[in-house]
Amino acid sequence: MSKYVIQGGNPLFGEVEIGGAKNAAVAIIPAALLVDGVCRIENIPQISDVNLCLTILQGLGANIRSINRHTVEIDASHIRSTRTSYDLARKIRASYYLIGALLGRFGRAEVAMPGGCNFGVRPIDQHVKGFTALGAKVVVEGGFIHASSETGRLKGANVYLDVVSVGATMNIMMAAVLAEGNTTIENAAKEPHVVDLANFLNSMGANIRGAGTDTIKIQGVTRLGGGSYAIIPDQIEAGTYMAAVAAAGGQVLIKNIIPKHMDCITAKLQECGVEVEEHEDTLLIRRTGPLQKANVKTLPYPGFPTDMQPQMVAVLCLAQGTSLVTESVWNNRYRYVDELKRLGACIQVDDKTAVVEGVDHLTGAPIQACDLRAGAALVIAALAAQGESEICCVQYIERCYENIVEKLRELGAKIRVEEDHDDLNGLEAHIG
Ligand code: EPU
Repeated sequence: MSKYVIQGGNPLFGEVEIGGAKNAAVAIIPAALLVDGVCRIENIPQISDVNLCLTILQGLGANIRSINRHTVEIDASHIRSTRTSYDLARKIRASYYLIGALLGRFGRAEVAMPGGCNFGVRPIDQHVKGFTALGAKVVVEGGFIHASSETGRLKGANVYLDVVSVGATMNIMMAAVLAEGNTTIENAAKEPHVVDLANFLNSMGANIRGAGTDTIKIQGVTRLGGGSYAIIPDQIEAGTYMAAVAAAGGQVLIKNIIPKHMDCITAKLQECGVEVEEHEDTLLIRRTGPLQKANVKTLPYPGFPTDMQPQMVAVLCLAQGTSLVTESVWNNRYRYVDELKRLGACIQVDDKTAVVEGVDHLTGAPIQACDLRAGAALVIAALAAQGESEICCVQYIERCYENIVEKLRELGAKIRVEEDHDDLNGLEAHIG
């Protein structure tokens, strides 16, 4: 296992290229199971969650051909099984998308309960509500979720989600594309990756309208054929590099982004005194002066993303004044705060609110990542801190950030990877 050793206090300069969106890729790859033909998927990020998804599909009998580092062809025409590997599927949260995809295509699915959870309760009742409305019976037995439709084909229905759920919206969409008749999902999530999945499915022959609004209408079709599709850039990877520049200072051109997706993050960083210039598919971010406090509340898109909350807190640790951060999506997403305190941050957490009192500087220390975005926040804080930090449990970070060490080094960061023999790294990494 590895750890990152970071010599902080150096501003970042240069250019960084953003990869494909992780949370789109981990849905679009399972969605390829709905396609009776070859689908070519481009701009796939090279991260461990994505590799796991591809391995699970292979285990089901899909033919997977790697065209280059970021492009694969998936042929699910001759799937042999609708039962996923227990050990692989339970490692990753996104394995719940295999239920919607297999159920939609074959009328049955057996998928291990999705991976454990480390920032709050993560129920899938809204996914189940949708599948049931479409005519499936869903039971849990022997650690597997068994979903099946008696007739072998689901029937379109209206589903009103009780909570805005990205996963449930995408999963119900997958189950409904090949169902008989029309499905409406109301109170749907509007995240860019929801739209990306709809665009992928439409490019394969589905009929989905309204993705990106809170009402999605799906007209069932009988078959999806093959095609080619490129995944959108990762909003959160881009936001993480923006936060790194905000905290450490410097000037960086962030390439391959969709500026519209960045608006909520850009606006908040500008409020903190960071300069952001938007271009067609790039952003220039610069921070030379002091950081100002800002209040942040996480919300479903287009609100400020929960997946940027830890990175934003890392920035606010160094802002002048007291900032209030409210986490309104997850219950327990402040576990990393104690690690930031080891660097000298002044943060008090009360339930869903973190009160961040800006300090003049942070000081390097040994710290430990506890989930993916928490890990990213620690990297950001360590880059800004004076002196050396060692971050262990970096396998979390590598689940969603492709080549983060190389990309930061290109920007002038003093970061290196070292072997870590600490027992803590033996802990299993969870979810995303
Ligand atoms: N919820 C329910 N019932 C459900 C589903 C969700 O009550 O059936 C609740 C959750 O407990 C939570 C809220 O609804 O309070 C939102 O959950 P959502 O379903 O939107 O989350 P998710 O689909 O499980 C995805 C991302 C997360 C990201 C959230 C919110 C993937 C694989 N994961 O999770 O990404 O935080 O949406 O945007 O797409 C990350 O990338 O770091 C990450 C954790």
